Amino acid sequence: MEQTLSLIKPDAVERNLIGKIINVFEDNNLKIGHMKKIHVDRQFAEKFYEMHKERPFFNDLCNYISSGPLVAMVLEGDNAIQKNRELMGATNPSEAKEGTIRKMFAISIDKNSVHGSDSAESAKREIELFFS
Ligand code: CMP
Repeated sequence: MEQTLSLIKPDAVERNLIGKIINVFEDNNLKIGHMKKIHVDRQFAEKFYEMHKERPFFNDLCNYISSGPLVAMVLEGDNAIQKNRELMGATNPSEAKEGTIRKMFAISIDKNSVHGSDSAESAKREIELFFS
């Protein structure tokens, strides 16, 4: 059993997509170990996305993720990290495959509806940040 962090980002929460997105995880044998709705502040956002701090989109990214409530979840299951990434689809929804969460729901590369840890190391760090 593996754990990964999933975020339902502010654009999806605002559009009442929490249930539809959670359905995708549950239909694919991922269990929700922990879950909370939270409005993070700018300081938390900068810490969460610190690996992107040299990227040109860092400022907008931090403003966006702290712009409204999000849903943070620990997803659990076999191969949960990779499975979640496949279910989300490509970061840029215009490149995401049919049937993926981002293809179905995302608005743009910024407002891309969901986040998922990209490795075991990230999952550990991100779960500790949201759930310790
Ligand atoms: P996420 O999986 O939350 O991780 C970092 C986020 O940066 C990513 O989703 C995108 O929403 C956002 N982002 C904005 N511009 C880019 C870009 N050019 N490349 C990658 N990620 C980007």
